[in-house]
Amino acid sequence: MSKVLVTGAAGFIGSHLVDRLLVEGHEVVGVDSFTGYYARNIKRRNLSRALVHKRFRLVEGDLCRMQLRAICEGVDRIAHLAGEPGVRSSWGEPFEIYLERNVYATQRLLEAVSASGTRRFVYASSSSVYGPDGGGPVAEDATRRPASPYGLSKLAAEELIDLYGRERGVPATVLRYFTVYGPRQRPEMAISRFISLASRGEAVEVFGDGTQMREMTYVSDVVDATVAALEARPGDRPRVYNVGGGSRTTVGNLVELVGEALGERPEVRYETRVPGDVHSTWADLRRAARELGYEPRVSLEEGVGAQIRWALAERRAPSLA
Ligand SMILES: NC(=O)c1ccc[n+]([C@@H]2O[C@H](COP(=O)([O-])OP(=O)(O)OC[C@H]3O[C@@H](n4cnc5c(N)ncnc54)[C@H](O)[C@@H]3O)[C@@H](O)[C@H]2O)c1
Repeated sequence: MSKVLVTGAAGFIGSHLVDRLLVEGHEVVGVDSFTGYYARNIKRRNLSRALVHKRFRLVEGDLCRMQLRAICEGVDRIAHLAGEPGVRSSWGEPFEIYLERNVYATQRLLEAVSASGTRRFVYASSSSVYGPDGGGPVAEDATRRPASPYGLSKLAAEELIDLYGRERGVPATVLRYFTVYGPRQRPEMAISRFISLASRGEAVEVFGDGTQMREMTYVSDVVDATVAALEARPGDRPRVYNVGGGSRTTVGNLVELVGEALGERPEVRYETRVPGDVHSTWADLRRAARELGYEPRVSLEEGVGAQIRWALAERRAPSLA
């Protein structure tokens, strides 16, 4: 058993990671500031299983303000998932929030980690650091040319991690997640919105013409890769891995999949393409397979089915009614 710190513990992916680490027998400290990106009650609910577990402790606080040295003391491994997500909202004024929550928060945490005995630091980065691909699978050493301020903030955090790895010996790994879905998916993400609207018989909003291709990664696969990275032996320098789901689909096809699973034929309303939304994402997973033993297990059909079952059950749950 080891002591693991998970930042962003109340979020979509963070809460699944916490649940898995508890099942595997670890002691887990979760940090989250419950930002207003989406509702606090959804995040509390994400943690409902963990909050009653005796090996879990939640520290509510902002990484940009709290005393981090004390939090990192005695922690063996850190999974840093806290951050401000979302390509669409990262343009304009709100970029300040992205700088703070994605860049400054990471730098503060790295300072604390470099002064502690933490054995492993894993960062949740994003496929958004690549920008447009050339129409084929993208390997980790491909050019990084983010198409959105969000992608740029994640890339800046990666660079900080590389710097603290080289100069201050932080034993870090960077994981670039590709569109993650499954139960607890953030409410503004595509599949969440499609389920919510189509199941009420309302028109589904698609940004762009629906031909964008996405590499889709089921959340338990992302958790597998993150746990593997937390357990792997540190290299001399921070190492980067793509974490994809091995399935690609167009956004238009996703609407159809959701509709079929719900027994509905949703009307689609096409909206202007979101600036920074790339046409295609495609992960080359060979490095993650070779070095982390990572292999995605959940097919798109299984995963979408699981998310729909979860979403419908949540809607029936009394506390969210
Ligand atoms: N969901 C995806 O498809 C996806 C894809 C690529 C990368 N990522 C990355 O994975 C991570 C988790 O994403 P998610 O989808 O679970 O998002 P999420 O918004 O559900 O979770 C992030 C959590 O971090 C917390 N947080 C933000 N800033 C904080 C701060 N300064 N101090 C403490 N807590 C803070 C938020 O309250 C939230 O609960 C993010 O870093 C995101 O950039 C997600």
